[in-house]
Amino acid sequence: MSRIVFLNGSFLPPEEAKVPIMDRGFLFSDGVYEGVGVIDGRLVDNEAHLERLERSLREIRIDNPYSRSEWTRLEQELVRRNGMTEGFLYLQVTRGVAERDFFFPQGVAPTVTMFTQAKAIADTPAARDGIAVVTVPDRRWERRDIKSISLLAQVLAKQEAREKGAQEAWMVEDGYVTEGGSSSAFIVTKAGSIVVRPLSNAILPGITRQSLLRLSREDGIVLEERRFTVEEAYDAAEAFLTSASNFVVPIVSIDGRRIGDGKPGPITKRLRELYLQMAREPAVAAE
Ligand code: PDD
Repeated sequence: MSRIVFLNGSFLPPEEAKVPIMDRGFLFSDGVYEGVGVIDGRLVDNEAHLERLERSLREIRIDNPYSRSEWTRLEQELVRRNGMTEGFLYLQVTRGVAERDFFFPQGVAPTVTMFTQAKAIADTPAARDGIAVVTVPDRRWERRDIKSISLLAQVLAKQEAREKGAQEAWMVEDGYVTEGGSSSAFIVTKAGSIVVRPLSNAILPGITRQSLLRLSREDGIVLEERRFTVEEAYDAAEAFLTSASNFVVPIVSIDGRRIGDGKPGPITKRLRELYLQMAREPAVAAE
C-alpha cells in the first residue's frame, strides 16, 4: 500500500504534497504540532491530543482550522488510507504562507499537514529491555507547555544522547530534571511511589503522562507530583519515560549509572501493561 499524506484538505502521495518556501513554519517555526499513537488501527487518547492542540493554537493565536470531530474524521481517514495498524500520526498547523515578515499576516489560511509512520509500539526491544538516558542542560525557551514545532534544542539534546550511546536525553534545569527530549520523565522511589514533575510552563503537558497518572491512581500506586533532582534519579529504584510514540518505556541507566538492578522494574512493567490495556480498549480510544 503506497503512502498517503494530508495537506490542506487533500490526501496526496508525499511527492505531490508541497509547501511553499514562504511558509511561516519553515521560516519562523511559527506553528504547533501533535503526535498520536495508533494501536490496532485506533488513535490512542485522541480527544486529549486534540484538546492540547486547541490550547497550543490558542496560545500562539492561530485559528483552529477544524472542529474536533472534523480532525478526528481526517485522522482516521489518513490511518485507513495508509492501512496503518500500529505507529504514530503526526499533525502540524502553521500560521500559513506569506512574504517573510515577523508580524502576523492578515487573512492567511493556516497550513495543515498530517502523515503517519508505521512502527511497533506494543512490543519493542526498548520496552522489553529498557533504555539508557543521559542528562543534558535544558536549553529551551520559557513556554515549553506549548507544543511548538521549534525543536532545535531537542534535536541537539537527542543527538548528543545518541552519540553517547543513549536513546533519550533528560533535560536538566537548576539541578532538576524537566523532561525528556521527546518524552515525560518519571522515577519510582525505593518506597514504591511514582515521582513526576508537576505541570507548569517548564514542561509539555504529556497526554500519555496524564493517562498514566489516572491509571496509577486507579491502581492504588502512590503519586508524588514534585520536581526531582538528577541525584535522586541516579538513586531511584526505577525510572521510565512516557510518550505517544512509545507509551511507557523503562530506563535502566542514567549517565552510565545503573538504575535499580539494571533491569526494567516491576512498577514500570505494571504501568506499561495497564497503559497498553487502556490503549487497546475500544471504548476509551477515539473511534
Ligand atoms: N513528543 N515532552 C516532550 C518535550 C515531548 O516532545 C513529548 C512528546 C512528551 C510526551 O507527550 P505525549 O505523551 O503527549 O506524547 C513530553 C512527541 C512524541 C514527538 O515529538 O515525537
